[in-house]
This record gives sequence, C-alpha cells and structure tokens, in this order.
Amino acid sequence: MHEDDGYFDERVAARYDESAAEMFDPAVVDPVIDLLVEIAGSGRALELGIGTGRIALPLAQRGVPVHGIELSKAMVARLRAKPGGEDIGVTIGDFATTTVEGTFSVAYLVFNTIMNLTTQAAQVACFRNVAAHLEPGGCFVIEVGVPDLQRLPPGETILAFPVSETRWGFDKYDVAIQGLTSHHFEIVDGRVERFSVPFRYAWPSELDLMAQLSGMRQLERWSEWKREPFTSDSRKHVSVWEKPAV
Ligand SMILES: C[S@@+](CC[C@H](N)C(=O)[O-])C[C@H]1O[C@@H](n2cnc3c(N)ncnc32)[C@H](O)[C@@H]1O
Repeated sequence: MHEDDGYFDERVAARYDESAAEMFDPAVVDPVIDLLVEIAGSGRALELGIGTGRIALPLAQRGVPVHGIELSKAMVARLRAKPGGEDIGVTIGDFATTTVEGTFSVAYLVFNTIMNLTTQAAQVACFRNVAAHLEPGGCFVIEVGVPDLQRLPPGETILAFPVSETRWGFDKYDVAIQGLTSHHFEIVDGRVERFSVPFRYAWPSELDLMAQLSGMRQLERWSEWKREPFTSDSRKHVSVWEKPAV
C-alpha cells in the first residue's frame, strides 16, 4: 500500500484494466499505436501517466523506446507484472514537474489524463515540462474530451455517463472553476464500489494557448486517432503540438 498514489491507489489499480476493458480493445489501441509510431520516428517516447501500460507496452513492442512518468506505484506494479513491463523505464512523480533524463521525439498524454491536473497553473506547468523534454521538432500529443457543456441544461450541474447492468456514473460540474468530479459506481461481488476523481476541463483553444506559452505550435487536431476531422460535433480531440526545430 502506498499512501501517495493519488486517486489511482491500490484498490483502483487492482481493477483498472477490467473496469477500462473497452479501452484495451485492439480496435481502440491499434490506431493510437500506429499514429505514435509514425510521430516517434526513430526517437524515444515519453508517456505522462503511464498507468498499467495500456499504450506503453504495445508501443514498446513496435520498437519505440518508451519512458513513463507516473504518480501511482500501485499502477506501475501492474505494468511491471505484465510481459515486457520490467523493461520500461518509469519515474515516479507528478508529470507536471517531474524531470527525466534525455530528450524525446514524442510525449503523449492520453485518455483525458491532462484533466487530472486540477488547476490551470498545473496544466501550464505540464506543457512547459513536456516542451523541456522534447527534442527540436518533437511533438506533444494529447487525447482529451471536449468539455461536454452543450449537454448540460442551464442551471443543472450533473451529467450521467454510459451505464451498464453493473456500472454507472455521473459527472458533477462546477463551471465557475472549470471543474468536474466524475463519480463512478460499480457492483463488485454484490457490493457497490465508488471511485470519484476531480478533473479540470479545458477547451482546445486553451490548450493551444498553453502550448504557445511553452514555445510550441499547433500542428494537428483530429477527432480520433485515424485522423478523422475535428468538427463542431466532435466529443473529443487528438491534438498535436510541435516544438519548433530552430
Ligand atoms: C486514466 S489513467 C490512464 C493510464 C494510461 N495512460 C492509460 O491510457 O491507460 C491516468 C493515470 O495518470 C496517473 N496520474 C494522474 N495524475 C498524475 C500526475 N499529476 N502525475 C503523474 N501521474 C498522474 C494516474 O495515477 C493514472 O495512472
């Protein structure tokens, strides 16, 4: 048990792969890996919030050296227990501020994880930290939802997210601070387990400004990993910023 694991502690880590099973589907993972392999070229990749290695392991298997930064030792223990997991370097710490040796051709932050930083200052620090780790011409890739405020009726604060027989959840918004807390409920062994995490949402344009403040420029914005166009109806985006070569 590690007291400083953050929200992804031993209890959450033990069930992470199962609860996020749809995100481990090859139909979801393969396009992510294809794009990251292409962007990485012959360089190294840095994953912020590497977790149990959902993306890092298949990326390393495709020949890209991957290093991770991760707060939760419990999540890293799950990564280590998987085939190839011992070979991936991980630095324990906060990805907004933790530094690692060397430079990278790509840094990536997937599955809404930028939102785990709950202040604007921490999100800007994260962009600056990434820029400091990228080689000239290197790219920062983020996958994150578009804030869902168009679905929030005036005066309401709660949005439900997809339910099944055994899982359901609610996002509770506090628009004054661009905050939301995701409350997940799941029936495990006949009992309801709750997992609540605070997030800070940011519009794509605010992320672009963070990149600009960090000396990077916007290169691409898609709605999915196979370069599907980003439109007014897109519920998420995959964005790429570049650290200029000069
Ligand atoms: C939603 S999980 C994603 C894990 C993995 N990237 C994936 O796609 O399956 C978010 C991960 O980020 C980690 N994390 C959250 N905030 C962090 C921070 N400030 N610094 C380092 N890791 C953090 C959590 O511990 C967790 O492992």
